Amino acid sequence: MEERSANIIKEKDLVMVYLDEKRQFLVQAIPRLRISTDHGDLNLSDIVGQPFGFTGKTHLGRDFYCLKPSTADLMMKLRRLTTIVYPKDLGDLLLETAVGPGSRVIEVGTGSGALTLVLAKFLAPDGIVYSYDRRDEFVENARKNLERAGYAGNVEFTCADVTRKGFAEKEVDAVFIDVPEPWTIVPRAFEALKGGHHVVSWSPNVEQVKRTVDELEAHDFKRIQAKEIIEREILVRPQGVRPRERGITHTAYLTRAQKVLVAQQQEPNSKF
Ligand SMILES: C[S@@+](CC[C@H](N)C(=O)[O-])C[C@H]1O[C@@H](n2cnc3c(N)ncnc32)[C@H](O)[C@@H]1O
Repeated sequence: MEERSANIIKEKDLVMVYLDEKRQFLVQAIPRLRISTDHGDLNLSDIVGQPFGFTGKTHLGRDFYCLKPSTADLMMKLRRLTTIVYPKDLGDLLLETAVGPGSRVIEVGTGSGALTLVLAKFLAPDGIVYSYDRRDEFVENARKNLERAGYAGNVEFTCADVTRKGFAEKEVDAVFIDVPEPWTIVPRAFEALKGGHHVVSWSPNVEQVKRTVDELEAHDFKRIQAKEIIEREILVRPQGVRPRERGITHTAYLTRAQKVLVAQQQEPNSKF
C-alpha cells in the first residue's frame, strides 16, 4: 500500500523513468539494475533514496526524470496476456457505480488484471475485489501484476467458469463484466448484487451489447444505458495545434444497469 506522506523513492517502488515521449519506462527501483537506452545507461541504485521528480543523468550525460506513475501508467504497462480495459472507459465505468473505499465488488474476467488493479487501488484500504477468470494462466499473471503494483492484498482471485458456477459472494456493491459473452453472466450478477446496485459491462461489438441489454431487461435490471466514450489526443506543437491523425479509434461500448427488488425480495428479513 502507498504511504501518503513519503515522496521518496524506496527500493521496489514503481517509477516512471522519462527521457522523452519515445523513451519512457515503468521500472521497479531495484538497486544495481541497469537500464540501457540509445541515450546512455542509467543505474537504478542512483535513484533509490531520491525524491520523485528527481533529475538524473545517463552515462552519456542525457537528463532523465523520475516521475510518479499514474494509475493509467500502471494499467497500460502491466504484463498483458489479454486485451485490457482502457483508461478512458474505466474512468467512466467506475463513476457509473457507487463504489469507493471499503466496497466489495466482483469482476469477471480477470484477464491481465488491468481493471483489477484500478479497483483494488480505488477500494483500498479495506475494500475487496473478488476477481474471477476461467483460465488459470491469466489468474497467475494477474496475481503477479497486482503484487508488483502493491495491491494484491485487496484482491481474492478465483479460477472458475462463472457462466456455469456463478459467484460465491452475495450482497456485493457492484459487478464488472468483461467477457466475450456478457449476457451469460447477467443472471449470476443479479444473484450476487445488493438491491439498487450496479452492473457494468463493456464489449467491442454492438451485437454483444444488444444481447446483454435483452438479458438485463429479462432480469429486473432498470436504468439500462449503453454508450461509447470517444477520446482524441491533441498535439500541441509550435507549427500548429490539432488532433493526432492516428490512434486507438475504438475500444468498447459500455453498458450499465441497476438491480431492483421484486415484491417477495422486499419482505422483512429477506436475504436481499
Ligand atoms: C478481455 S479479458 C478481460 C480483461 C480485463 N478486464 C483486464 O482489464 O485486464 C476477458 C477474460 O474473460 C475470461 N472469461 C471469459 N468467459 C469467462 C467465464 N464464463 N468465466 C470466467 N472467465 C471468463 C477470459 O478467460 C479472459 O481472461
